[in-house]
Amino acid sequence: MSKAKAADLLAWYDVHARDLPWRVPPGSNLTPDPYRIWLSEVMLQQTTVAAVKDYFTRFTTLWPTVTDLAAAEDARVMGEWAGLGYYARARNLLKCARVVANDLGGVFPDTEEGLRTLPGIGPYTAAAIAAIAHERQAVVMDGNVERVMARLHDIHTPLPAAKPELKAEAAALTPALRPGDYAQAVMDLGATICTPRSPACGICPWRTPCAARVAGTAAELPKKTPKKAKPVRLGIAYLGRTPDGGWLLERRPDRGLLGGMLGWPGTDWAEATPNDTPPLPADWRDAGAEARHTFTHFHLRLALRVAVIDPAQIPTDRAFEVLPPATFRPSDLPTVMRKAFDLARTAMETLPD
Ligand code: ADE
Repeated sequence: MSKAKAADLLAWYDVHARDLPWRVPPGSNLTPDPYRIWLSEVMLQQTTVAAVKDYFTRFTTLWPTVTDLAAAEDARVMGEWAGLGYYARARNLLKCARVVANDLGGVFPDTEEGLRTLPGIGPYTAAAIAAIAHERQAVVMDGNVERVMARLHDIHTPLPAAKPELKAEAAALTPALRPGDYAQAVMDLGATICTPRSPACGICPWRTPCAARVAGTAAELPKKTPKKAKPVRLGIAYLGRTPDGGWLLERRPDRGLLGGMLGWPGTDWAEATPNDTPPLPADWRDAGAEARHTFTHFHLRLALRVAVIDPAQIPTDRAFEVLPPATFRPSDLPTVMRKAFDLARTAMETLPD
């Protein structure tokens, strides 16, 4: 029975597989490149296919092999990652590339256990790479797969408590033959047919065995334990410009939120109103606008101050960098910092010389 289900899904995938830049089309006889599979799966953690595509193409053009990526400068890679979020992924990406290039001869391990030993590769990513790049019968669980399993078996236990049950169902279905295509097929099914809202049950290759379709409960599954409301945190960012047009930025410490990224110097982000503590004395003006951004655990409201600064006054005990206009790329900044830049630049233009 489960073999028949996998076969039905694979037959659907043979016709409907999405055309993705890291993917080897079913039936093509090409061998997937583990480097490209690893890179795509790290990028796809907590991020949509639509958001990842252009980043993937850019990274693989700049760095076609893991050895190329391992040799890249940290700041360059962090800059190219800017906008994708969850920046620990980019720091671990580099660490992992360097282990593979320097300690493993440029070859990724071909088992889940081996892959799990590498920086940034957790259970999901190890299973995905083992299945897709190495044809291992690994059970690949992500949000799409959880939703599909909850519906197929009409499981009403809320997430996250339902995870072990959903994984057991997924394991029972995973075939020994074509496990890589199968893993990608379940993800494509979840992304295109078994969607969170208004699933297209009428054209689903699993419409006959689907217990939730029969029960009429598909659209309400999976159930989820309600999440706590996110608190609001407040901060102030200081956008300083030198008289010759350079921007004052600060590299954030490797640990913590936006770790390793360039950003505007600023206060801590907390629920209490922050003290106005500029990084250096200058005629700081309120930009009259607030950058808003939502992180995993809180909403941020960032007040903005702008000033022309005296380079001689920049403290030397912090990781400040003045980027001249020719090297400053707003696209190298994490999204919240780019929002702050977009809002503040208008205010900057009206500053006195
Ligand atoms: N989401 C994460 N990895 C994916 C893959 N390999 N194919 C489709 N969607 C995905």
